[in-house]
Amino acid sequence: MIKTSQLTKLVSTNEGELEILKPISFEVKSGQTVAIVGASGSGKSTLLGLLAGLDQVSDGEIFLDGEPLHTMDEEERAQLRGAKVGFIFQSFMLVQSLTAIENVMLPAEIAGFSDAKKQAQNILQQVGLDHRAHHYPNQLSGGEQQRVAIARAFIGKPKILFADEPTGNLDAANSEKIEKLLFKLNKDLGTTLVLVTHDEKLAEHCERQFTMQAGTLSESKNSAPLKQDIA
Ligand SMILES: Nc1ncnc2c1ncn2[C@@H]1O[C@H](COP(=O)(O)OP(=O)(O)O)[C@@H](O)[C@H]1O
Ligand SMILES: [Mg+2]
Repeated sequence: MIKTSQLTKLVSTNEGELEILKPISFEVKSGQTVAIVGASGSGKSTLLGLLAGLDQVSDGEIFLDGEPLHTMDEEERAQLRGAKVGFIFQSFMLVQSLTAIENVMLPAEIAGFSDAKKQAQNILQQVGLDHRAHHYPNQLSGGEQQRVAIARAFIGKPKILFADEPTGNLDAANSEKIEKLLFKLNKDLGTTLVLVTHDEKLAEHCERQFTMQAGTLSESKNSAPLKQDIA
């Protein structure tokens, strides 16, 4: 589902070139759940953005569901994202001028689904927010906004979902709700889940765990069943 080979990311700063990600090679099979942990500033968000096609690699290869992300321009990456990728940002990134249901519908409308509204209602119900469909983000709590963001990420039934600290801004009770929801949707839809987190419980819940340390990624746990190797 994801395969990288010697992926690196350099950025230029006024003190010269900075290597944010050292050559990274790893593979994630379809349907797996993967956590990336590590200190702040170690490169986790940069890696997630590259894997999701939000940013361009400096060197190396990334294949997403067999497609060579590293050869694509911004528009091609956007198309691939629309077709296969969901992304949950730590800061929710909801459109403030749209209601909950309008936020959820947005990607489906862009993708041209004729039943965008019905699907959005359905998925809002799954995240327990159907009664809040017509509220604006600033009328919702942090946990509720995060659930809207999750509903939005799932409406296109993405093959792969990236989440950057999905419980980072939430209290314990809301974190637990979000965690349950992520794994339920992963189980129901078979979505591959790659998340960055500081939440040990959430990381433990994943089959595989990677640790990022100053731009170097290493695997620290792998309990994925062997049968997943087929995908
Ligand atoms: N565009 C950029 N220009 C310069 N430095 C950057 C840029 N993007 C990220 N960085 C730096 O790269 C490092 C990794 O950032 P990030 O991936 O956000 O880390 P994490 O998500 O693990 O906290 C940080 O030191 C950050 O300041
Ligand atoms: Mg980050």
